Amino acid sequence: MKTIVFAHRGASKLAPENTMPAFELALEMGADGIETDVQLTKDQIPVLIHDENVRRTTDGTGFVQDYTFEEIKNLDAGSWFSEKFSGTTIPSLEEFLRWVKGKNLKINLEIKNNIIDYKDIETIIYDHLKTHNLTDRTVISSFNSKSIKHFSHLEESITTGFLTSQKMKDLIDYAKDQGANGLHIKYRLLSRSLIEHAHNHNLYVAVFTVNRPLQIKRCFHLKCDGIFTDVPNIAKQIQESVQRL
Ligand code: G3P
Ligand code: MG
Repeated sequence: MKTIVFAHRGASKLAPENTMPAFELALEMGADGIETDVQLTKDQIPVLIHDENVRRTTDGTGFVQDYTFEEIKNLDAGSWFSEKFSGTTIPSLEEFLRWVKGKNLKINLEIKNNIIDYKDIETIIYDHLKTHNLTDRTVISSFNSKSIKHFSHLEESITTGFLTSQKMKDLIDYAKDQGANGLHIKYRLLSRSLIEHAHNHNLYVAVFTVNRPLQIKRCFHLKCDGIFTDVPNIAKQIQESVQRL
């Protein structure tokens, strides 16, 4: 199986992460899928942003969970990256799903609830996916195993990936116990034996965040099932050249 190249937070090297311009660019660059982070506003609207605090990637301050959707939509999520993107806003999950629906892209929604325990975030996301008929091309991932467990009980057709950046002795057994279909691991945890072990236990392996050509190449050589990269254009070029060999 070909390694799936996910644009990490969209094509986030050249456009502000987790915004519609970053998603559009990822599509133009030939990414196979898009990875994005989901949190909830005060009025429980799912929005796409990585940090729990809006400070780094917008012109606002404070926590996502303390903003209403209307308030968060007034923030500028593009200027911090470049003036060229000024006026770009934080997308809602709804906006993203409407856009992605007609595109040939896989979807990875990372539930960002390892610090803040957003009430009902799983069912809220699930309802959106159902409404748009997108369950079969979506991967749900989280560092929080509670969410993986929750989703694996919710629906068979949704793929779930357990995220980890820590070395864990019983990682495979643990992920299986949560009902995960795969592992989303930090690059430094990658090894040939882990891939083999995971595959033997019917788990796929996807690796984050790989931006250096040598690391990207290694992932392809080891036959990782997916990679997350800020530079999907470079990853796709490397993939083509590796295939030609
Ligand atoms: O989903 C892969 C990766 O995005 C996990 O880490 O912090 O970039 O969301 P982070
Ligand atoms: Mg993420």
